Amino acid sequence: KAKVAVLISGTGTNMAALLYAAKAADCPYEIILVASNAPDAPGLKLASAEGIPTWGLSHKGMKRDVFDALVDEQLRAAGTEFVALAGYMRILSDDFVARWQGRMLNIHPSLLPLYKGLDTHQRAIDAGDAFGGCSVHIVTPGVDDGPVLAQTPVAIAPGDTAESLAKRVQFAEHQLYPPTLAAFVMRERSPDYLLGRVRDLAMALPEAD
Ligand code: GAR
Repeated sequence: KAKVAVLISGTGTNMAALLYAAKAADCPYEIILVASNAPDAPGLKLASAEGIPTWGLSHKGMKRDVFDALVDEQLRAAGTEFVALAGYMRILSDDFVARWQGRMLNIHPSLLPLYKGLDTHQRAIDAGDAFGGCSVHIVTPGVDDGPVLAQTPVAIAPGDTAESLAKRVQFAEHQLYPPTLAAFVMRERSPDYLLGRVRDLAMALPEAD
């Protein structure tokens, strides 16, 4: 299976959705590390209880590129092939993005290219939009930029607040991210990976007479 590291800053419900989906036998990825810039992030405890290696270090007082180099070191040591950002609320350094470009996805709570950045739900409500929603995209140097792989529109109901809309969008996020990541790793995994799989399968075959 493709080795995925998840970066979180908070609750980690999207990380949990990725993790639970990965328990299906036919899921093409596995979560091999959950890392955070917030050592107390509740998501780290959840991942740890599930037997997933975790790493947490506060970025406070560190230069962005120095901190990101430490994250990168952890990812490499764990054998990461793909990175899934799941509520990782730090802007990444250019070096880090370049290092993982084409192998790093993010989930964002809006119908990109609308409402990059923060307060996405309130901005959609204030604009009188009929739909909010969520997007999964490939990470490129611009914040919340990069090719969109999949989106789920979520209708804005009369009387919706940012909180009530956020809840439904998060529900949609949990359903969108796992299959989008799965399809992505299937498409992107390297010839080396495929060769390894063929070897594994060949080893598992019964000996010919
Ligand atoms: C999610 O709604 C995610 O889309 C958002 O943070 C939340 C994290 O929740 N991410 C961003 O706003 C990134 N720009 P979670 O920790 O429960 O997965």
